[in-house]
Amino acid sequence: MRLLDQRRLPQEEVYLACSDYRDVAQAIRTMVVRGAPAIGITAAMGIALGARSIPATTFEEFYRAFEQICQEFASTRPTAVNLFWAITRMRNLVLAHRDTDLSLLKQRLVEEAQRILAEDIAINKQIGEHGKSLLADESTVLTHCNAGALATGGYGTALGVIRAAWEAGKKIMVLADETRPFLQGARLTAWELHALRIPVKVITDSMAGYFMRKKMVQAVLVGADRIAANGDVANKIGTYTLAVLAKEHDIPFYVAAPTSTIDLSISTGDDIPIEERNPQEVTHWGGQPIVPPGVEAANPAFDITPHSYIRAIITEKGILSPPLDENIARVMSDRKVLSAEMRP
Ligand code: MRU
Repeated sequence: MRLLDQRRLPQEEVYLACSDYRDVAQAIRTMVVRGAPAIGITAAMGIALGARSIPATTFEEFYRAFEQICQEFASTRPTAVNLFWAITRMRNLVLAHRDTDLSLLKQRLVEEAQRILAEDIAINKQIGEHGKSLLADESTVLTHCNAGALATGGYGTALGVIRAAWEAGKKIMVLADETRPFLQGARLTAWELHALRIPVKVITDSMAGYFMRKKMVQAVLVGADRIAANGDVANKIGTYTLAVLAKEHDIPFYVAAPTSTIDLSISTGDDIPIEERNPQEVTHWGGQPIVPPGVEAANPAFDITPHSYIRAIITEKGILSPPLDENIARVMSDRKVLSAEMRP
């Protein structure tokens, strides 16, 4: 597998070559690849890669080793549910092929991972098609973190909507929150939009309220890492702050995400596990300390935006408006609840 190392962007476009599934899992842990759908796709491919080198001769032997690989990926990051969704999908494929020749099963796993990637790109384009109608012909859209091609199989969710509106001829200007501490907005969203020639201005996270009060923001549009059954959304830390500010200024707050980000086994956002990352991401920049020695820092990577702040969730199945719990249940009626053992 070749993974674009997102930690090095925008300075360098470097690819990491992985021939061992453990290196792929480590790449997810260390943010070489990040963004909910991208993590799921990468895990599916990593599982297929690992499965190929299981030297088993019986299904039982194969399944034991396969399960260990799945657990390795399940332990990489806790918040984005797409990871567990993809693992479950790969496991279900194996369980449905108990009697298949093992070399054929290994090939099927590779094909399933490739299908997950192709489907995600198609889903993002559908999200874009549905969502573009929500943006006015001339508007400034504020986004947070990176929910673009880099965070998905390609095209993007929140940035996919912006891209579709732009491709439809709308004059869109993007304000990209820098997104402390990992700077996904400044480094990645700006990199993607600049390459697409979509006008973008990076602002520090603390500037959002200033621009909203000046009526310079017409919509806030973000991605999601996990959406609870009641419509509460986990997304990059700082998203909740934007939602509260948007409500205060009567600016619509939209979430764009595939239905694989919806976790029906979780009823409210309070039950979504929030990843705590290394405080060094806050205390250091470029290897240099930026706070006095001995001072502690907190680093929750995500926060919860309660559903009452969300004007709509844009999915590949259409735009879900409030009441979000009812509309989520309606579009998800064909989806099985995530099995308990896969929940972190
Ligand atoms: O820590 P990250 O960079 O993986 O967090 C990513 C986000 O919060 C994105 O907004 C989310 O995964 C949606 S990506 C389409």
